[in-house]
Amino acid sequence: MGEGVLTTPFPRLDGELHAGGVPLSDLAERFGTPLYVYNLEHVEARYRAIEQAFRGVDHLTAYSVKANGSLAILNRLGRLGAGADIVSVGELHRARRAGIPPERIVFAGVGKTEAEMREALEAGIYAFNVESRGELSRLDAVASALRVAAPFAVRVNPDLISPSPHEYTRTGHAQTKFGVPVPETLELYRWARGRPWLRALGIDVHIGSQILEVTPYSEALSLVLDVERILRQEGDELEFVDIGGGYGIPYDGEPRLVMEDLAGVILPLVQSSGLRLVLEPGRFIVGEAGVFLTRVEYVKQVGSKWFVIVDGGMSELIRPSHYEAFHVVDPVVSPGPRPVELVDVVGPICETGDFLARRRPLELPEPGELLAVYTAGAYGFTMASNYNARCRPAETLVEGDRVHLVRRRETVEDLVRGESIPWSGIRGQGATS
Ligand code: LLP
Repeated sequence: MGEGVLTTPFPRLDGELHAGGVPLSDLAERFGTPLYVYNLEHVEARYRAIEQAFRGVDHLTAYSVKANGSLAILNRLGRLGAGADIVSVGELHRARRAGIPPERIVFAGVGKTEAEMREALEAGIYAFNVESRGELSRLDAVASALRVAAPFAVRVNPDLISPSPHEYTRTGHAQTKFGVPVPETLELYRWARGRPWLRALGIDVHIGSQILEVTPYSEALSLVLDVERILRQEGDELEFVDIGGGYGIPYDGEPRLVMEDLAGVILPLVQSSGLRLVLEPGRFIVGEAGVFLTRVEYVKQVGSKWFVIVDGGMSELIRPSHYEAFHVVDPVVSPGPRPVELVDVVGPICETGDFLARRRPLELPEPGELLAVYTAGAYGFTMASNYNARCRPAETLVEGDRVHLVRRRETVEDLVRGESIPWSGIRGQGATS
């Protein structure tokens, strides 16, 4: 199935937004707001679009758990054949709980602890994507102590400025904490050759996130394949090349990265290398498949400025505040002709930086009405916090006409779990001493 087959995950039918066949206002009624809603069929279609485009080469699509770690979504993707790109023992646990086999898991991140390495080695993951000399040497020590061979790939820092919309989501240039410069990469593989518990299995690169062009990928891949050729001449026999994730999607009408175009530049290079390909998509699979539903509490005018105050904010969806990211905000039920004003859609959190949209032309809603914040399936719930002692929202998954509550809303008891007041004997659930 090509990407053209994909329909919009949240169509407007008879003036009201739906997820699959379900009106969003029904979901808000049943589960309350703020609320995350995911369209499962859209998630699956996105995954299949990648599989279709890359079918010409032996590959592993290791879904990036950090984008949306819902067990239900992980389980569905795992059943379709996906692996997982993880960055912590927590994500390892999630992926394993959801049934993703360890031999499909790759482990990235600059700060892996000894305990994390031990757990991942014991689980038997596919590979560690190693980000420094210190990490490789620690991996060697942990693997030797366990007497388990550690499969690894060095994550190369290609020193490319990737065309990502925000500096925080560019990871491929020399000024970031990620990866290892090329000359040092060669040294690390050479150093590993004498170590019986280290197994050089692949080579890795990840240049950033929300990238809408294919050229940075082919540039980065060419560079790591040059390194791989040198390693091969020196006797290393790598199995895979990992090009990371970052494939961009539309937030504001921009064109999505077309998988066939990406495959068009990647496949010839991979095929001539004879290596297996690892992909680490996150946002591309889940981003457009999610909306964040929030209800208007107040509409406030201060001088000439309008604030639409809603019941969800930066603690549930931090992207607008943290990356100045644009998310379309739309009424769930078309209100009919209303005056359009330039408004700030803001949350209830006590920060001036708590907004979902700023200076946005919007038909003025009324208190009690619902707004949908689009493209919230990736880095929405996973970046949610309890700031201002707010309960994290529920997550729902819609499959055609069926609705699943896949995570219940947190309660105020959840907020104090594990806490205690030592001198009063008052304890939250789960507190130890
Ligand atoms: N692989 C590695 C090594 C990564 O660091 C990431 C994302 C991915 C794959 C998946 O990237 P994706 O395909 O989802 O773009 N919170 C930010 C994005 C941070 C991305 C971090 N790393 C945002 O909301 O835009």
